Amino acid sequence: MAFKIGLLGLGTVGAGTAEILLNPELRHPLVQEIEIGKVGVRSLDKPRPVDLPADLLTTDLEAIVTDPNIDIVVEVIGGLEPARSLILKAIAHGKHVVTANKAVIARYSDEIFDAASTAGVYVMIEAAVAGGIPVIQPLKQSLSVNRIHRVMGIVNGTTNYILTRMAREGADFDAVLADAQRLGYAEADPTADVDGLDAADKIAILASLAFGGRIKLPEVYCEGIRSISAADIAYADRLGFVIKLLATALREPSAPDDATDHLQVRVHPTLLPKSHPLASVNDVYNAILFEGDPVGQVMLFGRGAGSGPTASAVVSDIQNIVAILKATGSRSPHSTADLHLLLACIHQ
Ligand code: HSE
Repeated sequence: MAFKIGLLGLGTVGAGTAEILLNPELRHPLVQEIEIGKVGVRSLDKPRPVDLPADLLTTDLEAIVTDPNIDIVVEVIGGLEPARSLILKAIAHGKHVVTANKAVIARYSDEIFDAASTAGVYVMIEAAVAGGIPVIQPLKQSLSVNRIHRVMGIVNGTTNYILTRMAREGADFDAVLADAQRLGYAEADPTADVDGLDAADKIAILASLAFGGRIKLPEVYCEGIRSISAADIAYADRLGFVIKLLATALREPSAPDDATDHLQVRVHPTLLPKSHPLASVNDVYNAILFEGDPVGQVMLFGRGAGSGPTASAVVSDIQNIVAILKATGSRSPHSTADLHLLLACIHQ
């Protein structure tokens, strides 16, 4: 019997997810039996970017998260509410959850992961940070033996696109932002991107995973790129630097008599020497550089947003859940299974 997905949202990421799930050639053979059970949308009348049987669509999102036939709820509606409540309700009804929602995870991860642990279900968040770049699972698995000192990244494609064009064209922020909005690279309300809030959500999530504790958003220093001018970029260039919006999480070495780690988590425009590995990450691309012991530096690069890249991360999370459920011979909630161990075994 197929594993049934309840897809909440059919926007850019939802449509990309449905496209992958409907295209058997794109799916891993292990999980050929994934099926879209229901798709929650705001309006039934809107034209759809993807061809779906009309009887799959519903505006009743609550009915999806409580539907006994749904195994995995995929939340790609974004925003805080009703996304958070729907995720919690899905968990309470024994559904595994895949979400791309960085805003909800950065604020409510304790509540959500506690609820998931109580219910014995999995919550997977690969798509919440850096879109198509696998960053959450590598951090939790392949790099987990390391003591991470620093996570530093370009995790917002919109601002990287704006800064790249300002540098190339000598143009000012407002002109490039207006053009980016016209081309669909920037939102009509660009606040979350250009003021660094989106990057702050992402680095709070990465820092929490890297340093093994919850980083609360008010602890993240946040400054965006509105005040950067073409002249700033030109002066930086003459001195051998580029300006990038960097999200950084740093574990400061403790003093010898101090057992406490001192963490700094911040987002701000940063002068980077042109020789730095992150300096040549341009346009809408994202990159994340980890530094840890004993691994040293590891850098991941790719597209951090958009339908295909983000849907790739969503579907990989769905696949991982299905792989675990198949490996354990169960589709119902687990009480004790350790997700990380199971995933590590499956990937060997
Ligand atoms: N607005 C985000 C960006 C999209 O520009 O990177 C993905 O979070």
